[in-house]
Amino acid sequence: MLRFSRSFSKSAINNYKVTVLGAGGGIGQPLSLLLKLNHKVTDLALYDLRGAPGVGADVSHVPTNSTVKGYEPENLPEALKGSDVVVIPAGVPRKPGMTRDDLFNTNASIVRDLAKACAENCPDAAICVISNPVNSTVPIVAEVFKSKGVYNPKKLFGVTTLDVLRASRFVSEIANTNPVNEKITVVGGHSGITIVPLLSQSKHKDLDTETRDALIHRIQFGGDEVVQAKNGAGSATLSMAQAGARFAGSVLDGLSGETDVIEPSFVDSPLFKDEGIDFFSSKVTLGVEGVKTVHPLGQLSEHEEELVRLAKETLIKNIQKGVEFVKQNP
Ligand code: NAD
Ligand code: LMR
Repeated sequence: MLRFSRSFSKSAINNYKVTVLGAGGGIGQPLSLLLKLNHKVTDLALYDLRGAPGVGADVSHVPTNSTVKGYEPENLPEALKGSDVVVIPAGVPRKPGMTRDDLFNTNASIVRDLAKACAENCPDAAICVISNPVNSTVPIVAEVFKSKGVYNPKKLFGVTTLDVLRASRFVSEIANTNPVNEKITVVGGHSGITIVPLLSQSKHKDLDTETRDALIHRIQFGGDEVVQAKNGAGSATLSMAQAGARFAGSVLDGLSGETDVIEPSFVDSPLFKDEGIDFFSSKVTLGVEGVKTVHPLGQLSEHEEELVRLAKETLIKNIQKGVEFVKQNP
């Protein structure tokens, strides 16, 4: 998988503490392993309600230049103190027949409480939210940080990288290309019709309408394929771990001074604020302060204009739901 683009500055430092909240879970375990393989991570803190010390002991035997520690629930502040990047895959996954929004009632309070701990113990860390529904959990983290007076919009990310991975993979199956060389920008949010791949900006802009629509539908609902195949045992974990490790790695690359580090992400975005949509996923340049530039969507086809319009109708409600939750349940 190619990143969007990349070059290097001489000022790179490679010495970071990364904390995984939910490290004992289906995503958390392989994600922790992949982060252990990232040479910029020198201190890996693994936290979960259950099982983190075991995962920590296991991963710690991998011979890379970092220390790993698993933390018990009472030691959450210690897991977070000094963290540069916090990745959050804590929360319940979907079962067949559920939407991501159906997870809200359980995951909203999990994410709110973990966000409080982050705001208190590592307010300057980059927070990468994986827990669903991402369209609502990211605004929850923002509201918690605002309530504590430490909100920095440049340091909050909803991880939508799995949609980008799927787009590359699925388009390559149709076009018979190597997915490693595919770059598809995916914008909007992370659920169903809020996921909008911009095929017109790729080398696949001339697909016939039927093929294009089937491909877009598969990218939008790719998560359902995994949920159905796992048949009650959860949702995507391994592909998500790869997506999360890539995104966290890109955040670290940006923090360390590499230039032209670009990934789509669901961030506090200026693009549609005038329509009341405070968060939107588009290409983001990652830098030493987190978000460096939020890129505009660029030229869209008429069809994509309509997909973005539909995505915005759902997004505004998803975002408001997260904001309201924190107001009602501070
Ligand atoms: P899982 O049930 O296997 O693991 C979740 C882990 O979170 C468990 O180990 C659990 O103990 C832990 N946890 C729960 N509450 C916690 C708390 N308060 N503090 C710390 N840890 C806590 O689930 P999973 O398959 O790893 O999925 C996790 C979440 O990621 C789900 O919400 C899922 O929908 C989401 N997800 C998002 C994406 C994405 O693209 N953003 C992709 C896949 C899954
Ligand atoms: C995914 O896209 O695979 C995740 O958001 C998990 C899910 O519920 O589909």
